[in-house]
Formats: sequence, structure tokens, C-alpha cells
Amino acid sequence: MFGRSKTTSTLSKADRNGHLIIMHAVAKTFKTAAGPFTALKNVDLRVNRGEFVAIIGKSGSGKSTLLNMLTGIDRPTSGEVYVGETPVHTLSEGQMAKWRGRNLGIVFQFFQLLPTLSLVENIMLPMDFCHMYAPRERKRRAMELLDMVKMTQHANKLPSAISGGQQQRVAIARALANDPPIIVADEPTGNLDSKTAEHVFELFEGLVQQGKTIVMVTHDSDKAKRVHRAVIVSDGEVLEEYLARAFSTLSQEQLIWASHNVEPEQHEPGSIVFHSGSAPDQFYIITRGAAEVVLRTPDGQNIVAARLTPGQYFGETPALARGASVALLRGTERTATVRAALDTGVEVITLDRNTFNALIAQSEPTRESLDETADRRYAETEALLKKK
Ligand SMILES: Nc1ncnc2c1ncn2[C@@H]1O[C@H](COP(=O)(O)OP(=O)(O)O)[C@@H](O)[C@H]1O
Ligand SMILES: [Mg+2]
Repeated sequence: MFGRSKTTSTLSKADRNGHLIIMHAVAKTFKTAAGPFTALKNVDLRVNRGEFVAIIGKSGSGKSTLLNMLTGIDRPTSGEVYVGETPVHTLSEGQMAKWRGRNLGIVFQFFQLLPTLSLVENIMLPMDFCHMYAPRERKRRAMELLDMVKMTQHANKLPSAISGGQQQRVAIARALANDPPIIVADEPTGNLDSKTAEHVFELFEGLVQQGKTIVMVTHDSDKAKRVHRAVIVSDGEVLEEYLARAFSTLSQEQLIWASHNVEPEQHEPGSIVFHSGSAPDQFYIITRGAAEVVLRTPDGQNIVAARLTPGQYFGETPALARGASVALLRGTERTATVRAALDTGVEVITLDRNTFNALIAQSEPTRESLDETADRRYAETEALLKKK
């Protein structure tokens, strides 16, 4: 139906393009008494270092199954999962446990602390298992982590002696025991009252500020709004929320298809996303931070024509402004420079030219709404340049 066919071949390092987490064409079929049941279908997902990604979707849609593919708790029926340089889908059970212990912190809805160990012992366990830190250091480190989640005074209690919210805080401290770069959490606030849930969520926000990458399943749509990017799982397929918001006129099928071809990118404050005059090859939707559209006046001054924020898109203009809607992003040049805002930098999801063109060729309302935006921007630009 659409242009680009999906490849199921092994991703090269170049294909992986520096993303910290990649799921490529991942499918999972369970054998059940009633016959095979496909819980994940051809899932593609890319996550950048430092991103806070929420996984949302109805109960039974496949969220936990998706996380289990990332953590190696379960294996895909087909497809590939990379975390950093590690092809997780190829690890043996023994390798998997060691790898997971060092690289992932996992937080579950029901905490899953070991009931016969004290809280501090629960936190030391992953360090013992992975031989991380000198044995004498482990207790001190565990106490520091308990301090971070404000639980030091309970260190020697058993899990059953503390509340659910406190258990979850300890579970987060345990997830951090080996200082993993990535935290994966499956409805970590799902079993907590709203005030406690807020505290726990703030802990996660603090971890992202420290540079951790977090993938979190959540039922709580208010919380999902506070992350960098949300991914919707629907009947075992993944679609990007920002894409759905930017293109509200696309059908679910089109959104799922386009989501397979989305790549997140990060641009440092002040860096150029593209130059005026360059060949347009991508379309961008901002997920975090801001981008500035910079124009050059006839007398050679650079002016910031617009500041674009999350949910807004750019990169569509050149062909559209000339009314050549369907041949979009082909042949023409960029008419402005776009740079990452100096104060925030910018994170975007991108669609390549073929995907973008296929989308607007398939959806007249989408083309119309893009045309409208482009016309408006074109007029604004003209007016601004005249004023100068
Ligand atoms: N081990 C399993 N065997 C058979 N079916 C499963 C198994 N695990 C999950 N499923 C099914 O796969 C679907 C997705 O489950 P899950 O990923 O747990 O959904 P979510 O976390 O979104 O609620 C559900 O229909 C569920 O019943
Ligand atoms: Mg679940």
C-alpha cells in the first residue's frame, strides 16, 4: 500500500545511527491453548540516550510484552533488539542475566522486593550478583541509595514492614544499585495512591535530569504528558503520539505505518539542524526543547523568524510554498536555516522524504493542513523581510 517496504535484515551499525535502544521489526507470538496469539506485530522503536519515553495504551495492548523484549525477560519470535552495542535478542540466558544486571534497572508495578531480605540487603543483591563494587563498598552504596529515596531509617526492616509507596522507593533504589544507564519501569505508579505516585514519578524525573534513559509504561495520562515522548501501543502495534498529534487527520493505519519510519534526533543548543539552500531530505516534529527559524535579510542580516516548540513541525516548506504539494521535499532547496534554540537545544522525531511524500499522497486532509501552515509561514516570512 505504501512506498517503502520494510526490511527484516540485520541492522548495521550505521543503520542504528547512535540510538541507545532499538527495536527493529519485533514480533511476539505466544502459544496458547486456543492457538497462537500475536501480542506484538512488527514493532519498530528507537530511543535516544537521555530520553524519558512513556509507553501508553489500553490494558492487553502489548505494553508489558514490549518491555519484556527490551529487558530480555522474554524473547521476540522475530526481529532484533539492540541496547547500546548489545544485540539483546542473541544473548544466552546466562549472558542475559549478567548483561541485564549491569545495564538495566527494572522497576515493576508490584515492587518485587525479596520478602526475606532487609531493605538494605535487597539493594545490595544486584551488586553481589554482578560482582559490582568492592564487597566492603556495597553496603555503603546501598545506604546512599536508600538516602536518595529517603528510606535510610528503615534500612534494616523487611519489605512487609513498610508501605507500598515506600517499597516502590526501595525498588527504585535497587534498580539503581549497579548504576545502569537505562531504567525500565512497568506501571511503577499503578498500585500507589496519587500523592505517593507523584513522589515516585518525581524520583524518575530526577533520574532523567542526572542523565538516565527511562522507558516507562504508565496508565496515567497526566504523567505521560510530562515525559519527552509518548509511544502508543495499540493491538500490538506502536505509534508515535507526536506524529498522531501533528497529523490528526491521518488514519490509525497510516500513523502506524509512518511510526515504523520515525527516527528521534537530538541537537545541541545552537547547532544547525539544516542550512538554507541545502537539499531537503527530512521532515521534523519537535518533541522537546525549541527550534529557531533563521532568515537572512536582503542586506545580509540574520533574523529569527519563528521559535517552534513541541508538537510543531518544520521542514515541509520549500515545495509547499511554491504550491508543488505532492512532489514535496524533492528538488527544491531549504529556504531558511533552522537551528536548535540556544537555551534548550531541540529533540525531534524525523520522517524521511519518501515516507513523508507517501503520507501526504495518501491523505488529502494532511496535505491541506500542511499547505495551510506552509502558506501562513510563507506570508509571515515575506512580511517580516519587507519590514526590514
Ligand atoms: N505468556 C503469555 N502467553 C499468552 N498470552 C500472553 C502472554 N503474555 C501476554 N499475553 C497476551 O498478550 C497480550 C498483551 O499482553 P501485555 O503485554 O501484558 O499487555 P499490557 O501490558 O498492555 O496490558 C494480552 O492479550 C495478553 O493476554
Ligand atoms: Mg502490562
